[in-house]
Order: sequence, then C-alpha cells, then structure tokens
Amino acid sequence: MIPFPRMVVGKRSYGGGVMTLFEAVGGEQYFRGLVDDFYDRVDTDPTIRPLYPEDLTESRERTALFLIQYWGGPTTYSDQRGHPRLRMRHMPFPIGMVERNAWLRHMTAAVFASGVDHRAAEQMNNYFANSSLAMINQE
Ligand code: HEM
Repeated sequence: MIPFPRMVVGKRSYGGGVMTLFEAVGGEQYFRGLVDDFYDRVDTDPTIRPLYPEDLTESRERTALFLIQYWGGPTTYSDQRGHPRLRMRHMPFPIGMVERNAWLRHMTAAVFASGVDHRAAEQMNNYFANSSLAMINQE
C-alpha cells in the first residue's frame, strides 16, 4: 500500500512526501538536542559568543521552536513570537562573513554529531548554509 502523502501546506515534505523532516529525525526531542549542542559550541566561541545574551536559555528555546516549526512540527514558535522575520530580528547584531562562518561551523558540527542520516543532514546543512548567508548585515 502506498502511504497517503501528507502534503500539508506550509510543511516541507520529506522522503517522497510521506512525512516531514521533523518526523523523520525524531521530532521535538531531536531539535532540542541539536540546538543544545549548537549553543554549547557557541558558548565557547570568542567570535560570536559576545553577540548573544549572557543567559542562553531563551536563545535555546527560540531557536529550537523555530527549527521545529520550520521542518514541519508544531507552530509554537509563531504562536509565541509571530512571523519569524529572521533577517530583521538579526539586524541589531553585527553579522559579517566571519560571524556567519563561525555560526555555520557550529551548526554543521552539531548536525553531524546528532547522527541523523546523510539525507536529512544534507537537507539541513544546505538550509543552514543558505539562511545564514541571508543574515549577513555587515561588510
Ligand atoms: C549567520 C550567523 C548568525 C548569528 C551570528 C546569529 C546570532 C543571533 C543572535 C545574537 C540572536 C539574538 C539572541 C537570541 O535571541 O538568541 C539570534 C536570534 C535568533 N537566531 Fe540567529 N544568528 C545567525 C544565524 C541564524 C540562522 C541561519 C537562523 C535560522 C536558520 C537563526 C535563528 C535564530 C532565531 C530563531 C533567533 C530567535 C529570534 C527571535 O527573537 O524569535 N540564526 N541569532
């Protein structure tokens, strides 16, 4: 039997449209782990750590909720924060290519360390490579 494709509007499909990437990688727990690892890496990085607030609790929460929503999970992020407008939300922080590369290095490392299959890893890392370029707001 061919599973009924769940092509819900606004939810990106994965694995031929049968499920979302959110479901394929293990749901909320997966993204919370990924984001925790990412911020642990950021926490020790002298290049971008100073851009973040001293307490990273809220940053962890918002980034996890954003990625959960982006990859097809519950829309709690937008219920709490409204439209993501990520480029606008990053404007207060000076982000050049050096900061972007540091951010991406930590996120890519966290994706690989999370042990997801190579197809999901590639899809996520492509997204992070592109979206992080869009946050650059300085020479
Ligand atoms: C390019 C390098 C980047 C740097 C240096 C950076 C840095 C920051 C900083 C300083 C904040 C504010 C503190 C906070 O609320 O955590 C922030 C917020 C956030 N960032 Fe980034 N960021 C980058 C790229 C990205 C990318 C590519 C994404 C998503 C794919 C992302 C997702 C978020 C989210 C969801 C928030 C919270 C927004 C909100 O207030 O609701 N960031 N980021």
